[in-house]
Amino acid sequence: MQLNIALLPGDGVGPEVIAEGVKVLRRVEQLTDAPFNLETELVGGIAIDEVGNPLPAAALDLARRSHAVLFGAVGGPKWDDPLAPHRPEDAILGLRKALGLFANLRPVKVFPSLINSSSIKPSVLEGVDILVIRELTGGLYFAKPKKRWQTSRGRRGVDTLRYTEGEIVRALRVGFELARRRRGKLTSVDKANVLESSRLWREIAIELGKEYPDVELEHMLVDSCAMALVRTPSRFDVLVAENMFGDILTDEAAILAGSLGMLPSASLAGIPREAGRRGRPALGLYEPIHGSAPDIAGQGKANPIATILSVAFMLRYSLGLSDAGAAVEQAVERVLEQGYRTQDIAEEGAGSVLSTTEMGQRIVDAIEV
Ligand code: IPM
Ligand code: MG
Repeated sequence: MQLNIALLPGDGVGPEVIAEGVKVLRRVEQLTDAPFNLETELVGGIAIDEVGNPLPAAALDLARRSHAVLFGAVGGPKWDDPLAPHRPEDAILGLRKALGLFANLRPVKVFPSLINSSSIKPSVLEGVDILVIRELTGGLYFAKPKKRWQTSRGRRGVDTLRYTEGEIVRALRVGFELARRRRGKLTSVDKANVLESSRLWREIAIELGKEYPDVELEHMLVDSCAMALVRTPSRFDVLVAENMFGDILTDEAAILAGSLGMLPSASLAGIPREAGRRGRPALGLYEPIHGSAPDIAGQGKANPIATILSVAFMLRYSLGLSDAGAAVEQAVERVLEQGYRTQDIAEEGAGSVLSTTEMGQRIVDAIEV
């Protein structure tokens, strides 16, 4: 069966890192005989420039008829005008919403060979292996009202943090199910000392917890979670959080892994199934958690590893090719162990610093299925 993959490179370093993800896919295709059909569409700032819309119908249609989407990054100073009618970010937000991808998985793992590249002490990083599940289609990002307006007493702006019971249940369920497959511990993040939506979130977590007696459930306020993530990160297994809480905590957690350039993500419409049954792939969107990094775009400095690890996630969760996914992850590990680095994870005087394409090629060459 032919597997259709949508490529949405976007802006800044997006096209550079997606090109490396494509090389990995082509290598897996060769090694496994799984035919991939890759199609590309414009999204983000470049789509605003070319067709006046950050998420053109062609891109959304392509995503809808694909088995998986590989997304780069969107945005840049050129499109930052707060009064502009369109924003590049609407591309990714619109895709997540339109495809119903409410569960965003962001693993934070410290590769032993990178333990010295983090700004956090190695002793703190020992054994860090966290999976953050960020609720992705509700909460502060999407609920209405959401607007700015003029009043006689000055300008006002509003965003709304609203959740339905159904939205909370399905996000938490992904957390419980995945905690069960890992070390059996779930941290539910909220701000229940202040926010009503968080009190509801906590109440539902406690109720749902009764269905998962084998999972140890704890609740943590988001501010103290932010602190614990850098003080004692190895205490965490699975974290589950509201959309914006998850956004902020995962940029912070990326520092544990050495760089934002290391963190992949999968956005799914349900509980992930390893090796989705053959013939019935489950649509997912895969993207590095880093942004378009306009300051280094076009210079071959971007780290392609977050994208390549996102491809590994895609192979596993959408394309039913778990073994190939594991092979890609092992290839990344091997190349790092050999001392190869991109500039964001290079320690002064150690290892050799590669460009984006050189790092991609090293990893491709290290894949053994
Ligand atoms: C992320 C990004 C996006 C988000 C932006 C680009 C809209 O920061 O995926 O974490 O806030 O969700
Ligand atoms: Mg973010």
